[in-house]
Amino acid sequence: MSLIGKRVVVIGGTSGIGLATARAFLSSSASVIIGSRSSAKISEAIRALPGPVDAHPVDFRMDNELERFFAAVGAFDHLVVTAGQAAMGPFDTLPMDQALAAFDSKFWGQYRTLKAALPYLNPQSSVTFTSGVYALHPPKGGFVLAAINSGLEGLVRGLAVELAPIRVNAVSPGIVDTPIYAGLSEQDRQALWQDLAQRLPVGHVGTAEALAECYVFLAQNDFSTGTVLLADGGAHLGSA
Ligand SMILES: NC(=O)c1ccc[n+]([C@@H]2O[C@H](COP(=O)([O-])OP(=O)(O)OC[C@H]3O[C@@H](n4cnc5c(N)ncnc54)[C@H](OP(=O)(O)O)[C@@H]3O)[C@@H](O)[C@H]2O)c1
Repeated sequence: MSLIGKRVVVIGGTSGIGLATARAFLSSSASVIIGSRSSAKISEAIRALPGPVDAHPVDFRMDNELERFFAAVGAFDHLVVTAGQAAMGPFDTLPMDQALAAFDSKFWGQYRTLKAALPYLNPQSSVTFTSGVYALHPPKGGFVLAAINSGLEGLVRGLAVELAPIRVNAVSPGIVDTPIYAGLSEQDRQALWQDLAQRLPVGHVGTAEALAECYVFLAQNDFSTGTVLLADGGAHLGSA
């Protein structure tokens, strides 16, 4: 399915995997509309991307903001959601509100986004959510993300049936070098990458560009629905 002239919305398109995905869709001659909360990130992303790019601020946890966002966008063809907040830590000490906040963001945010977007999609449209390899292979402290990602993957299968012929899929990343790790010092980040590189079958952590190819594939491939495309460097095999 050609993407030439198609309109693609990327919620989370101002950073990391979402920004690379916006760039990849532009390279396929689609036009792209990006959304996230921070006006500063939006301005920076518009500067970084080769046009045509439109952008509006939105917090995908808020129904009223999503309704305003999609009313401003109007009819479009493909929806990608890469926004999401995590909660990590030991089960006995992780505050309940952090676990709830992560669900509110990564699970319910993607759910709410599609609910608000649906009136603007068409029968040839696709929707691609973002889960993560912790659904299959959680480390210690990763149980909230394991639950959220597993829930999202079930949601994708259910919605592929529910919303057919609209196609609904998910991309499941492994560890990918993006600003999500900005909280780590450069030294700690490099040490983590080196450690993972030794343990991952592919010998390196992921790039946002490698993940972006997955979202473009799922938008283009008209025989893929209810599926999860895992791009994790082999992390699910258990060595990392
Ligand atoms: N990087 C990894 O190693 C990795 C591994 C497994 C899964 N994932 C998943 O992949 C997805 C993308 O991760 P990433 O590494 O690209 O992260 P990132 O670089 O931090 O980008 C996240 C994007 O989401 C937006 N966002 C966050 N909360 C939002 C909200 N409430 N409403 C609207 N936009 C929001 C952020 O912009 P604003 O701050 O402006 O809102 C930003 O554009 C996430 O779901 C993450 O869980 C990542």
